[in-house]
Amino acid sequence: MRTGVIGASGYTGGDLVRLLLFHPKAELTCVTSRQFSGKYLSSVHPNLRGITQIKFEEFNVNKISDRCDYIFLGVPHRASMNIVPQLLETGVKIIDLSADFRIKNLETYEYYYGKHEHPELLGKSIYGISELHKEEIKKANLVSCPGCLASSAILGAAPMIGSGAVDLERIVIDSKVGSSASGREFSLSTHHPERANIVRPYKATNHRHTAEMEQELSEVAGKQVKIAFSAHAVDMVRGILTTIHLFLEKELTEKEVWGLFREFYNDEPFIRIIKQKTGIYRLPDPKVIVGTNYCDIGFEIDEHMPRVVVLSALDNLIKGAAGQAVQCMNLMEGIDETTGLKFPGIHPY
Ligand SMILES: NC(=O)c1ccc[n+]([C@@H]2O[C@H](COP(=O)([O-])OP(=O)(O)OC[C@H]3O[C@@H](n4cnc5c(N)ncnc54)[C@H](OP(=O)(O)O)[C@@H]3O)[C@@H](O)[C@H]2O)c1
Repeated sequence: MRTGVIGASGYTGGDLVRLLLFHPKAELTCVTSRQFSGKYLSSVHPNLRGITQIKFEEFNVNKISDRCDYIFLGVPHRASMNIVPQLLETGVKIIDLSADFRIKNLETYEYYYGKHEHPELLGKSIYGISELHKEEIKKANLVSCPGCLASSAILGAAPMIGSGAVDLERIVIDSKVGSSASGREFSLSTHHPERANIVRPYKATNHRHTAEMEQELSEVAGKQVKIAFSAHAVDMVRGILTTIHLFLEKELTEKEVWGLFREFYNDEPFIRIIKQKTGIYRLPDPKVIVGTNYCDIGFEIDEHMPRVVVLSALDNLIKGAAGQAVQCMNLMEGIDETTGLKFPGIHPY
């Protein structure tokens, strides 16, 4: 597969190129950047020194699409919406990491992100969460990968949503996320003296990812679900820990909850159910999954206030972005979805 990355100078772009360079069935044929055109990829991503001689180039739809079978977009929302239609016309397969084509409902998109220039494409993209939309992704020309917080929330909540035991109008989700989730562009809030040593409630209400969580979990439930979501920035570079409070309308035993998770994820290669009785890593922990395409999910049942507390941990730049995107490409190509992605993290980290 000949692959290209638009916005390759960014953080998701960096992990995309890293994964594609070591993917046994992929070749990285072009990487674009407006700021670094003509410079070596390793001048921005120093971890790639000595590994590739590829240089950044300016985005030019014809030059790029001629050399690619798959193009990934690691650019901000609103930038993608004008690039994707041009690429679609060339017949190349597109995997977009931005939010521009995730939300199917135009009004909802515009509430969170502003005016959409190509609403006709909203219904044409497939939401790129492999565990929920595998068969559709296999046939897709345009895949829109989930947001990183949404990935952890949806993967954690989905198995119990259809159980009939959960109050679907009162789902409470709370995420803690590392600094790389806000990308490579800096601002005062990401400046080290302001960002270090924090547990900052940067979006206690009205977070944009609420829209995609509700969209996807409503589809799983077969009816509209309502989510109260809050996000906190914490002192990590990579990783997300999401805590999901599912209030129970009928009693569930631990064995039954295990059964729901096992049945929903069956043989999913990148979902690990973590619930140990002893040790310091009894439940999902971002420290364990950093650098991997795994999403670790675990739970506890609270008898005091009948609820299941689900914990979900993933690396925002891999399972929450670049890894998930490569997993989608594998599915679109009809090869084993784990190709180029099956490696553990580092321990200790
Ligand atoms: N960071 C995460 O954890 C994460 C997870 C899931 C999804 N995402 C989504 O993935 C996308 C990329 O995120 P990121 O964190 O990689 O951002 P980033 O580090 O800021 O990188 C984005 C890159 O896009 C290019 N760019 C910026 N504005 C552009 C424009 N108007 N037109 C064309 N290119 C432009 C920039 O490269 P040049 O200036 O060099 O051209 C920049 O390096 C975003 O849509 C984000 O929401 C991010």
